[in-house]
Amino acid sequence: MTDGTLQHPSMPRAGGRRIPWWLFGSVLAVVGAIVAASIAVYGPGEDGLLHITRYTARFAFLIFITVFASAALAQLFPSPLTRWLKRNRRYMGLSFALAHFLHLGAIVAYHRAIGEMPGVVTIVGGGGAYLFIALLALTSNDWSVRKLGPKTWRRLHLTGISYVWLIFMNSYVGRLMSETPPEPKPIFAVTAGLGFLALGLRIAAWLKRRKAAA
Ligand code: HEM
Repeated sequence: MTDGTLQHPSMPRAGGRRIPWWLFGSVLAVVGAIVAASIAVYGPGEDGLLHITRYTARFAFLIFITVFASAALAQLFPSPLTRWLKRNRRYMGLSFALAHFLHLGAIVAYHRAIGEMPGVVTIVGGGGAYLFIALLALTSNDWSVRKLGPKTWRRLHLTGISYVWLIFMNSYVGRLMSETPPEPKPIFAVTAGLGFLALGLRIAAWLKRRKAAA
C-alpha cells in the first residue's frame, strides 16, 4: 500500500519506511527564513537574536504539538493526512529535535550578545528538556526499540514528550498570565491554546480506546 507520495526506487528506507528527507530540508529553510527576516527587521544585534530565539521556539513548538497529537488525530479523525502524520511521527519528531536544537543555537548566540548567563531555573528546567530531546532523538530508531523493549521505549518517550510539553506550556501560560508580556498576548493565547487542545485530543483518544476495550 502507498500513501500517495511519489517514490523513487533510490529513496532510502529505514526499517522498510521511506525517510521524508524534505522534512529536515524544510526545517532548515524555515529557520533560515526566520534568521534572515529577523536580521532584516531588527538588525544583527541583540534585538535580532532575541527575535530569532522567539520565532525558532514558536516554529519548533508547532512541529512538536503536531507530533504530540498525531496518534490521537489519526484515531479520532482518520484521513490520509492524519494517517501520514502518524506513520511519519518518528521523522516529524526528529525534525522537531533539529528545529529545537537550532533554537538552542539562537539562545547561545543571544546570551553571548547580551553578555549574561541564563538563570539557574532556566538552565536546569530547559537543559533537562534538551537532555530528553537528545535522548528521544537518539532512540528514535528500530534498533533502540528492540534493545530497550517496546514497553520501556514507550515509557521513556511518553515521559520525555510530557516533560517537553510542560516546559513549553510553562513558557506560554506564564507569558499569557504576565502583566507585561514581551509580545502581544494573543500570540501566547494561540500557542497555549494549541498546547491544551493537543492534550485534550490525547485524552479523548485514550478515553475512546478505554471504552472500546471495555
Ligand atoms: C537552557 C535552556 C534554555 C534557555 C537558556 C532558553 C532561553 C530562552 C530565551 C532567552 C528566550 C527568549 C526570551 C524572550 O522572549 O524574552 C526563550 C524563548 C522561549 N523558549 Fe527557550 N530556552 C531554553 C530552553 C527551552 C526549552 C527546552 C523550551 C521548550 C521545550 C523552550 C521554549 C521557549 C519558548 C516557548 C520561548 C518563547 C517563545 C515565544 O515568545 O513565543 N526553551 N528561551
